[in-house]
Amino acid sequence: MKKLIVPSILSADFTKLEEEVRAVQRSGADWIHVDVMDGHFVPNISIGTPIVKSLKNLNPPMMDIHLMIDSPEKFVSAFIEAGKPFVKVITVQVEACRLLYSTVTAIKSYGVMAGVALSPGTPISSIEEILPYVDLILIMTVEPGFAEQKFINSMIPKIKRLRCETNNSAYKPLIEVDGGIKLDNIREVAQAGADVFVSGSGIFKTEDYALTIQTMRKEIESK
Ligand code: DX5
Ligand code: ZN
Repeated sequence: MKKLIVPSILSADFTKLEEEVRAVQRSGADWIHVDVMDGHFVPNISIGTPIVKSLKNLNPPMMDIHLMIDSPEKFVSAFIEAGKPFVKVITVQVEACRLLYSTVTAIKSYGVMAGVALSPGTPISSIEEILPYVDLILIMTVEPGFAEQKFINSMIPKIKRLRCETNNSAYKPLIEVDGGIKLDNIREVAQAGADVFVSGSGIFKTEDYALTIQTMRKEIESK
C-alpha cells in the first residue's frame, strides 16, 4: 500500500487557513489531519465542527479527524455531517470512549473509516477485541494535547510490535503515527512499520511545504 503523508492543520496559520490547506494540497498531502480537543480529555481546546464545515468548501484533501474528546460517540455524526463528503477517517481515543464497539460500528455505518488511537501509556492489548472492526490504529507518539512536542522514542518498539501482530493477523488495519514526526525521524518510523504519517510542525513550520513533503516521501519510500 502507498504510504500516506498527512499534515496536521493544528500547526497551520489560522489567519490564512484556506491558503495553508491549498498549499499542502498542491504540495502532495494525501489527507489533512484535523485535531479536535475538548479541554477535558486533553488540557487544550482546538477545532470544532464549524471549521470542518468551512474546510469542506475548499474542496480539500480528504479529512482525517482525530477526536481527542471525552465520550466521542456523542459527536461522531456531527463531524461526519459537517465534513461530508470529505471525511475519510474518524479516530477516537480508546481511553476516552466507553462504548468502543458501538462507536466504531457507527462510524463505519456512514461509509467512513473507523480509527482507534492509543496514547503512549496505553498498551496494544487494549484494542485486541476491537481489532476485527477497525480500519486504522493510531499510535500516538506524543501525549495527546499539543503540537510541537518531542517524539517519544520508546514508541518505535510499540509500532514494531503492532506491525508484527497485524502481519500475523487476518485483520489489516492501517497503522498511523502522530506526534513529533519530522524529516529527521520519519524514515525510522517507516522502518518500524507505519503506513500513515501525521506531521504538524514538521511540515507547517518549514519554509517550503512541497520540498518537505517530497523529501519525507523519499525517506519513507527508501526505507
Ligand atoms: C497532538 C495532535 C497531533 C499534533 C501533531 O495532540 O494529535 O496531531 O498536532 O503536531 P506535531 O507534528 O507538531 O507534533
Ligand atoms: Zn492528531
